[in-house]
Amino acid sequence: MNLGSITNPVRVTARAAPAGRLTDGIGTRPARKPATAARPATAARPATNAEGPLASLIDGIVGHHHAHTRSALHRLAALAASASPHDRSLPGVARAMDGFAALECELRAHMTKEEAVIFPYIASLEWALRTGRTPVRSPFSALERPLGAILDEQGEDHVLLESIRKASSDYTPPPGASPAIHAFYEGLAALERALDEHGRIEAEALFPRALELEQSALG
Ligand SMILES: [Fe+2]
Ligand SMILES: [Fe+2]
Repeated sequence: MNLGSITNPVRVTARAAPAGRLTDGIGTRPARKPATAARPATAARPATNAEGPLASLIDGIVGHHHAHTRSALHRLAALAASASPHDRSLPGVARAMDGFAALECELRAHMTKEEAVIFPYIASLEWALRTGRTPVRSPFSALERPLGAILDEQGEDHVLLESIRKASSDYTPPPGASPAIHAFYEGLAALERALDEHGRIEAEALFPRALELEQSALG
C-alpha cells in the first residue's frame, strides 16, 4: 500500500497542476512573492525526529505544531474580533477575516481528527509491533483511506490560505488600518509558514512510514 498510488484531486483542482502523487507538494508551496508585512519570528523548530519512533514524531507534532496552531488561531480570532467597522470596511479586510474564520474551523476539526483517530491508531500499531502483541485493527478499513482524506483537507487548507493571502494583498495592511489589522496580517503570514512545515512533516515523514508500519503489522 502506497500513498503514491493515489492522486490528490484537491491539489489538481486548486492549482491546475498535472495529476500527481498524493504527497507531491503537500505541505510545500510553490515559489511566490514574499509577504511585505513584517514577519514575526516563526515558531521554534520542533524536537521532531523523522527517523525515530513514530510515537515520538506524533508527540512532537501534537505537542509543538498542534499546540502552536491552536495558540495562533486563538490569538488571530481575538484580533479579528477586535477589528472596528472602519477596519472591516477597508479593501480586502472583511474577505481576509471571513477566510480566516473558515480556516480556523477547518483546522480545529482536522487536528482533532488526527489526535482522536489517526495518531492513536498509528501509535498502537507501532506499540504492538515493538512488544509482539496482536495489533488491533482500526475502525476504518485501512489507513490509506483516512490518510487520503486528511491530505485532501490539507490541500483545502492551502486553497483557503491562498484566498486569504490574495484578499490581504500578500498580508499588506491597507492604508488607514489599525494596529490590530497589522498584527492580524503578520500573524496570518506566520501561521501560513508554520502550516507549511506542519503539513510537510505529516505528509513526508509520518504518513508514508505509517502506511509501511500498517503493512508490516497487518499484512
Ligand atoms: Fe496535524
Ligand atoms: Fe494534518
